[in-house]
Amino acid sequence: MKLIFLGAPGAGKGTQAEKVSEYLNIPTISTGNIIREALKNGTEMGKKAKSYMDAGALVPDDVVIGIIQERLTQPDCENGFILDGFPRTIPQAEALDRMGIHIDRIIDIEVPDDTIAQRVSGRRVCAACGSSYHLDYKKPQVEGVCDRCQGALVQRKDDQPETVKERLAVYHEQTEPLKDYYAKSGKLVIVEGQERVEDTTALTIAAVKE
Ligand code: AP5
Repeated sequence: MKLIFLGAPGAGKGTQAEKVSEYLNIPTISTGNIIREALKNGTEMGKKAKSYMDAGALVPDDVVIGIIQERLTQPDCENGFILDGFPRTIPQAEALDRMGIHIDRIIDIEVPDDTIAQRVSGRRVCAACGSSYHLDYKKPQVEGVCDRCQGALVQRKDDQPETVKERLAVYHEQTEPLKDYYAKSGKLVIVEGQERVEDTTALTIAAVKE
């Protein structure tokens, strides 16, 4: 199954992509994670993306389209995948169409902006492996320490309140139009994000099976 997860920054698409990835046994491809990894490793692409990411802006289309083109040729994508955070602009969606990939479903996770601001401010991520936690909703077993690899938990630079405001503005302007783009295909399913992660997961899995 080939899926796209849409949604505002912090709506919970990464969390749900991880759950559905386990459920269907297909990989999640997160452009955000790929860019953060490149940044950590100091690659040319990472250096190019850093200023955009830190400011809450989108990385140029040609960079992310290149990332996706390359990633989708990997053997683990043969039986399906979840695109988490791609496409994010109409030109990215058009590029995906040109790749000739048949997408089965587009899941759009909807959460109000004020809930997002509160969720994102409590997010902490592992500086070593990138695992995501939350101060209230997904606490690690030991405060400040990653359950998976014992790395230190830090706040993402783009999770500062001012940057989150900018990311939401960018979302409404550049990414939200994708809902209309995909609604026309008849494959768009809207999932209302719930207060508890597991409740959203139940709705998301039902949407995938629809
Ligand atoms: P990216 O890493 O994709 O970030 P984002 O889309 O801004 O999304 P987030 O990771 O913030 O949110 P999410 O919806 O995955 O939420 P999560 O599940 O973590 O992109 C970062 C940057 O990279 C972009 O700004 C851009 O610069 C660049 N980039 C990436 N892709 C690009 C592209 N295609 N084109 C151009 N540039 C690109 O949840 C958030 C928090 O809430 C977590 O702490 C979680 O535990 C908690 N939570 C989740 N669900 C619930 C719930 N139901 N109840 C309570 N808490 C919850």
